[in-house]
Amino acid sequence: MGIRPKIDRADLLSSLFCYAFYTCLPTSHRVWADVREALYKCSEQDLDPELVQNQLISDLKYHPGSRAPVSRSHQFQAFNWFSIQAEEFKWKLIPEFSSVLDKELEELPFVYRTYPRGDISVTLLEENQDHLSHGTTGLITWQGAYCLLDWAEWSEELKGKSVLELGSGIGQFGLTAVQSLQIKEFIFSDFHHSVLNYLHLNISLNLGNPPSMEELEEFMQRGYLEPYTADTVRYSTKDYDVKSTTKVRVQHLDWRDYQSSLLPRVDIVVASDIVFAKELHRPLTDTLVDIINTNSCPAYIACTRRQEEGVVKAFLEMVEERGLSSEIVYDRVYSPADGIIAHYEGLHPVKVFKIHQDSLRTEKPSKGKVYF
Ligand SMILES: C[S@@+](CC[C@H](N)C(=O)[O-])C[C@H]1O[C@@H](n2cnc3c(N)ncnc32)[C@H](O)[C@@H]1O
Repeated sequence: MGIRPKIDRADLLSSLFCYAFYTCLPTSHRVWADVREALYKCSEQDLDPELVQNQLISDLKYHPGSRAPVSRSHQFQAFNWFSIQAEEFKWKLIPEFSSVLDKELEELPFVYRTYPRGDISVTLLEENQDHLSHGTTGLITWQGAYCLLDWAEWSEELKGKSVLELGSGIGQFGLTAVQSLQIKEFIFSDFHHSVLNYLHLNISLNLGNPPSMEELEEFMQRGYLEPYTADTVRYSTKDYDVKSTTKVRVQHLDWRDYQSSLLPRVDIVVASDIVFAKELHRPLTDTLVDIINTNSCPAYIACTRRQEEGVVKAFLEMVEERGLSSEIVYDRVYSPADGIIAHYEGLHPVKVFKIHQDSLRTEKPSKGKVYF
């Protein structure tokens, strides 16, 4: 019989609490049920409530998520939730928890969320709730980005490569990938000036030169409005001097309006959750055909199946009509229990499709192709 590992209940509670706290997940989210379970285990073991709470407060203080301010309304909700549980377990609340409960503050339009992954974590300024309120889907993180990370880690396809990401949004995929996957060069791209502004802030926050805490506080109120406007963003590029060994660039790239001569030379294209709107299929396909044929490189696109099953299929059929091939290389279904990111989304299958010139096919085409 092997030796049973020691599992420290207070550590488990603390890591779950920190995770739920810094991802700013609402207390109705499944991860808080896990926190409650861990709390129950602590009380069952008769751990000293004061020591456990002190450890929680100390771990919150030193957690990577503390690099950015936490929404006060979220802090209120989380600590209030904790006080209700504590009361049930007959724990006396320490002042660090109780002092926050004087008054509930209004939600701000933007929040910082921290996404841990292994040894690294990424903190992003995101829109708080209404993910289309600023006229773009790009100001929050989607679960496709998470799936693309799982695929990239598993496949090691990006190691040592020059990578172009299409429709990067606020940078969940790229900011994690450049810190963990030994990529030679990573080019983020998107078309919307607001999205590129948030991306700019998130790069500074995670890869060096972060603004002060006071400035970061302000951005939760008014968002981040620099350096681009709708008029100045077109064809812009910016190289970053970052603490990672990967060369990082952000490039404005609108699939509906770009110059082929400005497309970067790369080894691989990646993207997540960019196939959701049928009206974008044509320009996106044109862009992919252009980049894939010029570079003889593959593209890997993570697609989430939402309401309409046919949307991804229609896109892949269009891609194939243009002489490219597609195949599924990775397939996941995330559940709320995974605790990941998109708390506003339910259970959806996500697949990564490889799109490439036919000569690069790795599998024989099968009859009656399955897209999802
Ligand atoms: C649903 S979001 C996904 C963002 C990110 N890839 C993720 O998974 O979190 C779609 C992204 O595509 C971008 N996008 C939409 N239309 C585009 C276009 N014509 N050219 C380039 N990017 C576009 C949006 O700005 C947005 O960032």
